[in-house]
Amino acid sequence: MADKPFLTDIKTLRDRARKHIETGAVTQGYSADRKTVVKLLNEALATEIVCVLRYKRHYFMASGINAEGVAAEFLQHANEEQGHADLIAQRIVQLGGAPNFSPEGLLTRSHAEYVEGDTLLDMIKEDLVAERIAIDSYREMINYLGNNDPTTRRMLEGILAMEEEHADDLVSLLQDLGN
Ligand SMILES: [Fe+2]
Ligand SMILES: [Fe+2]
Repeated sequence: MADKPFLTDIKTLRDRARKHIETGAVTQGYSADRKTVVKLLNEALATEIVCVLRYKRHYFMASGINAEGVAAEFLQHANEEQGHADLIAQRIVQLGGAPNFSPEGLLTRSHAEYVEGDTLLDMIKEDLVAERIAIDSYREMINYLGNNDPTTRRMLEGILAMEEEHADDLVSLLQDLGN
């Protein structure tokens, strides 16, 4: 065996786990700044909720000869953004925080905007902009977390991958519409 152990010895690990058991999944080894992480996650939660609302609006308002396929895409995205919101809210609770679902200040907390758009084309473009905002902010959060909170980071990486898919879907829709 190597002289220098790189893991905490079992006794210390066991003793530490018994202290502050009320903090649940957050152990002494959690090295991220928990308050900041919860704040960032609440901003991400607001972003996802705004995206759900915007996609829903677009889903119901989509009209014209190309509307059917596009509307189906809007609805799928809305449901997936809702799934992201749920994952984020759950993680906030695990970290000992409280998910902020208040409609008050929702748009201020959100990174993405709520733009209704007049035409199908406007809607797709606005959704694409919102996805691109989400992509950049998730990437930034992932970099910020580094190795200090691998669980949150992994969750955000999964969400980021899906936002990139969304952006790609929207670009394909624009191309289908000849733009
Ligand atoms: Fe999302
Ligand atoms: Fe998305």
